[in-house]
Amino acid sequence: MREELLAIKERVIEQIKIAEQPSQLEEVRVKILGKKGELTAVLRGMGKLSKEERPVIGQLANEVRDEIESALKDKDIIITEKLNQIRIKKETVDVTAELGKSKTGYRHPLYTTVEELESLFRELGFMVVDGPEIETVNNNFTMLNFPEDHPSIGLSDTFYIDDNHLLRTHTSPVQIRYMLDNKPPIRMVSAGRTFRYDDVDDTHSPMFHQIEGLVVDKGVTMANLIETLNLFVKNLFGAEVETRFRPHHFPFTEPSAEVDVSCFECLGKGCEKCNFTGWSMELLGCGMVHPNVLRNCGIDPEVYSGFAFGMGIDRITMIKYGIDNIRLLYDNDKRFLEQF
Ligand code: PHE
Repeated sequence: MREELLAIKERVIEQIKIAEQPSQLEEVRVKILGKKGELTAVLRGMGKLSKEERPVIGQLANEVRDEIESALKDKDIIITEKLNQIRIKKETVDVTAELGKSKTGYRHPLYTTVEELESLFRELGFMVVDGPEIETVNNNFTMLNFPEDHPSIGLSDTFYIDDNHLLRTHTSPVQIRYMLDNKPPIRMVSAGRTFRYDDVDDTHSPMFHQIEGLVVDKGVTMANLIETLNLFVKNLFGAEVETRFRPHHFPFTEPSAEVDVSCFECLGKGCEKCNFTGWSMELLGCGMVHPNVLRNCGIDPEVYSGFAFGMGIDRITMIKYGIDNIRLLYDNDKRFLEQF
């Protein structure tokens, strides 16, 4: 029986040595030390032993069990540690790893221009306000002193939604909204989308952008209008750029003017680009707010006067970035937009 015990011990210690998984250890434990285990069976047979042999073998059996148990325990610690190491290695996050550059978006050049224009006017003391793109016919035309038979009101140039609503054809209705809601002194600009039924070509799109300005106060004159716009143009394009005010007509301003800026290419000397006129195409429309418009908004034209101006943002963007086709601003072609 002694040999039997020692043989079991040797075999089991060897099995424990080569075990690699906790489940293998558990298997050994059950097979040897379990209720139906080999060692347990040996111990059960002790009854057959003589009185002298019994305590000796009993002690040996206890020693063998203790040794196996402690071998199992030691090996369990080793295996657990080893498995932990493997797991740690597998789950390690390399915080220095290069994950590739995250892609930042690109600001659309049109909106870079909008922000630049707004900030230039803010510096001059203007409030930046917003207006809806769907307007009433009343705000877009009637309140702005358009005569009923004005060609712009005709169905041909304007996107009507119903008899009373349209996609605004200019940002001027924001003037009306602002004057109805605020008392003078007023200094505001408002930029946004505008819509006209135009065929698309290199410089026209049925959706385009304008920025509108309005000043109303006591004693505002044409001199203030010219000075403000000159300052604005020089801030935007450079001190060397000159302006030219040409008489024009708008229903909502009187007198009205269109403003040209000197050719950026030749600075007014005359070159091929400006057809030897020294002037670029018109930049904006402006004028002194018509007394009827002030009156429509509950402002007494005997007490207050004002000036207004409006200009296309698309054109300014195209000039600033040297873009020769308005479609590029609306195609959303990444190859184009990535340049800005
Ligand atoms: N609303 C005019 C246009 O769209 C521009 C303008 C604005 C003219 C304000 C005078 C005053 O052409």
